[in-house]
Amino acid sequence: MIAELRAVAAEADAQVRVREILTRALRNPAAVQEAMSGFSGEEEILFEDDGLTIMYCGFDPAKHVPPHDHRMGVTIGVYAGGEINHFYLAGERGLEHKASRELGPGDVMQMGPDAIHSVETAGDAFSYAIHVYLGALKRIDRSLYDWDSGTPIAFTDENYARLERPRERKVVTPEDPV
Ligand SMILES: [Fe+2]
Repeated sequence: MIAELRAVAAEADAQVRVREILTRALRNPAAVQEAMSGFSGEEEILFEDDGLTIMYCGFDPAKHVPPHDHRMGVTIGVYAGGEINHFYLAGERGLEHKASRELGPGDVMQMGPDAIHSVETAGDAFSYAIHVYLGALKRIDRSLYDWDSGTPIAFTDENYARLERPRERKVVTPEDPV
């Protein structure tokens, strides 16, 4: 799969092609889980160059990954467990929750370079996914966002740890009474 992803990463329609590759691989999530059985914990880089980063990601059920952006196209394919992605807009009214989407084994989701999301597991177990980024994710400057003000904050390990929250934080939806 890494070879296939490398072959399409520089194409003009790379996002479409990456989605096709992940969707095909995840028609059998159990087989992907078996192939990935050597991986555990929160993240590991499977491949990285200037135009492509492929990562193993495990989300801890105790944590809510703080809001952040990626500044490049992202494709997420879940192979075990469930993850809930919360999407936001950062503006004058702070960090506005716009939508949430739950992904389970076999689901593939894409985000554009400007998307801001936070992630928590859907259940009490870790969730496991392959993440494909069309760029050098670990070598670019990108942002975390303050939960309340929506202020962009440099994406550093220290800021990440400070903003991380326990899972099951109530996320205010636009429909909720203020
Ligand atoms: Fe992310």
